[in-house]
Amino acid sequence: MTLSDKLQTLALTADRDLAKAKTPDDVAELETRFLGRKGELTGLLRGLADVPSVVRPKLGELANDIKITIAQKVAAARERLSGGALTQKFEAEREDVTEPGIRPQEGHLHLMNQAIREITDIFAKAGFVRTRYPEVEWDWYAFEALNMPKDHPARDDWETFFMDAPVSSEYGKMLLTPHATSGTARELAGQKLPIRSINISKTYRRQIDVTHVPMFHQFDGVFVDKGVSVAHLRGVLDYFAKEFFGPDRKTRLRPHHFRFTEPSFEIDVSCGVCGGTGLITPPYEGGEGGGSSPQKCRTCKQGWLELGGAGMLHPNVLKAAGIDPSVYSGLAFGWGVERTYMMKEGMKLDDIRLLYKNDLRFLQQF
Ligand code: DAH
Repeated sequence: MTLSDKLQTLALTADRDLAKAKTPDDVAELETRFLGRKGELTGLLRGLADVPSVVRPKLGELANDIKITIAQKVAAARERLSGGALTQKFEAEREDVTEPGIRPQEGHLHLMNQAIREITDIFAKAGFVRTRYPEVEWDWYAFEALNMPKDHPARDDWETFFMDAPVSSEYGKMLLTPHATSGTARELAGQKLPIRSINISKTYRRQIDVTHVPMFHQFDGVFVDKGVSVAHLRGVLDYFAKEFFGPDRKTRLRPHHFRFTEPSFEIDVSCGVCGGTGLITPPYEGGEGGGSSPQKCRTCKQGWLELGGAGMLHPNVLKAAGIDPSVYSGLAFGWGVERTYMMKEGMKLDDIRLLYKNDLRFLQQF
């Protein structure tokens, strides 16, 4: 067999074997066998030295063509087989995109945040702008500016957490604010008149039991202008009660005492269960002689539920903020979000701490 024949045969063999290759590894092996440094083509090319020099260039050209052809066939086989492997992989991992998905659990606002939003919206309609003030507060804004001098016994009503921090010569001790009224003190001190705002914030007191949590929320509203009177206060409170609890609810003011207001009141709202009568007539039970006689309402006992505190700002509070009490007067009111919300929902929680236990079985109900 001439060298030319041998080259042709090599080309045919390579072609046939590559066509039979089944895996990328087979192809790699054939590539080494035919084209490798010690491969068959290199072996044949060594014979070039022995052929007459006239035919040598022609044979050289042929060998080169064959080398290129085999290399192309190797590439094609590789392409074919790796494509096949990919197809197999795709086939094995095929996903049915039309299959319905698994819906992730969706959360919602905590019920206290829902309540805060609702309260904010109700007061916004009456022109009260929501403000935010520090929860880590100075004694001055929590007490002193609110007409509660140092060592005044009234301070005991606010079981305060004091910070282990340096005392300010101007503002006194640092504390966790025990009521949102500290924000009202700041609002009074910092703003141009008239003022109509509501501070809603976290508040902190040293108490924890079934009706108290050490962190809770309060809102504290204030309206200062010339000629603001108790009539405005009544109007604002009544408006809130009707918006928040329902149009048939009424409010009443009872005299009370707070250091920062004069006069001061406690506000009651008529009970939604007995309609403010304090009496419930049990449903007709069928037998002869009609239903049972009226009984005391178990929600309120006397027709009213206690809502929170309010009053006309004490002249000393206005003075502490640099406002002239002979020209301006102001109303203020404030109470807890948690309790108010539970009253609205008619929710009888036997442990208020449930609100902050993050138990989804409870939270998902709201
Ligand atoms: N800050 C008071 C408290 O925490 C409640 C209160 C009473 C707020 C009278 C007021 C007010 O704005 O006028 O118990």
